[in-house]
Amino acid sequence: MSTPEVYSRFHRMLDGLAAMLHRSRRPYRKELLRLLAAARTGWPSADYGAGYLYQSFPPLGLHGFRQTEVRQAQMAITDALRGQRVLEIGCNSGFLSLALSPGARRYVGFDNNPFLIDIARLTQKTVRNEVVDFRVDTVEAFESDEPFDVVLSFANHSTWDGNMTLALEAYFSKLQKLLVPEGTLFFESHHPALENKAQVQETLKVMQKFFAIQQQRELTCGSAWDRGRTFVEASALIKG
Ligand SMILES: C[S@@+](CC[C@H](N)C(=O)[O-])C[C@H]1O[C@@H](n2cnc3c(N)ncnc32)[C@H](O)[C@@H]1O
Repeated sequence: MSTPEVYSRFHRMLDGLAAMLHRSRRPYRKELLRLLAAARTGWPSADYGAGYLYQSFPPLGLHGFRQTEVRQAQMAITDALRGQRVLEIGCNSGFLSLALSPGARRYVGFDNNPFLIDIARLTQKTVRNEVVDFRVDTVEAFESDEPFDVVLSFANHSTWDGNMTLALEAYFSKLQKLLVPEGTLFFESHHPALENKAQVQETLKVMQKFFAIQQQRELTCGSAWDRGRTFVEASALIKG
C-alpha cells in the first residue's frame, strides 16, 4: 500500500490524462476539481480521499482508494436491494450509492460533508441516475418519518475525522429505529489496520443487542484499502 497522499496524487494525475482523451468528460472533471478545491479550504476535517477521491467511479474514469465495482460485486447485495427502501449512512461522494441504487424503490444517502454531497449530486446528474435522494445530514441528527427496509453502514460505525459523536450502542440502536421490524442491515467493518479481528468481534457484540446476524464473511478482493474487512448481513430485532 503506498501512502494515501502518493496514491491519491498519482490517480488524480492519471484520471486527468484520461479525461483529456474523453472530450465529453471535461466539463464534469472541471466541476469536480472545482468542488475538491472548495472542499480543501471549506471542510476542516478529513475527506477520506487525501485531497482526491475515497471511492472510485469507473463510468467516469475516476480512481479512488475503494474500488466501487469490486465492492459492489463482492458484497453481492444488488438483488437484496431490489424494490426496497434503502438508507445509506455516510455515503461519501455517492459513487457506491449510484452503483447500488438502480432497482431500489427508494434510496436515501446522506453524509455530513456538504462538498461530498455536491460531488454526489453532480455525478448523479451526469450519469442521469434519478433514484438516489442525496442529503447533507449527520447520523446524530437524521430523522425520518418513512421507514426503511434496508440500512447500509459501510465503514461508518465510527469515524476517525472526529465528526461521529455516537458510541457504538447508540449508533446501532439508531439504525434499528430507522428500520422496519426485522429490516436488514448490511454492515462493513473498518480496514483491519484500524479495526482488527478482536475489535470487530467487540463491535459485533454490541450490534447483536439490536440485530441478529444472518451471515458474516471476510472481503478478500479489491484494493489494499478494501481487503480484510468483515461484511455482515443482520436483521433488526423486534423491539420489546
Ligand atoms: C470511512 S468513510 C466511509 C464512506 C462510505 N460509507 C464508504 O464505505 O464508501 C466515512 C464517511 O462518513 C462521513 N461522516 C463522518 N461523520 C459523520 C456523521 N456524524 N454523520 C454522517 N456522516 C459522517 C464522512 O464524511 C465520510 O464520508
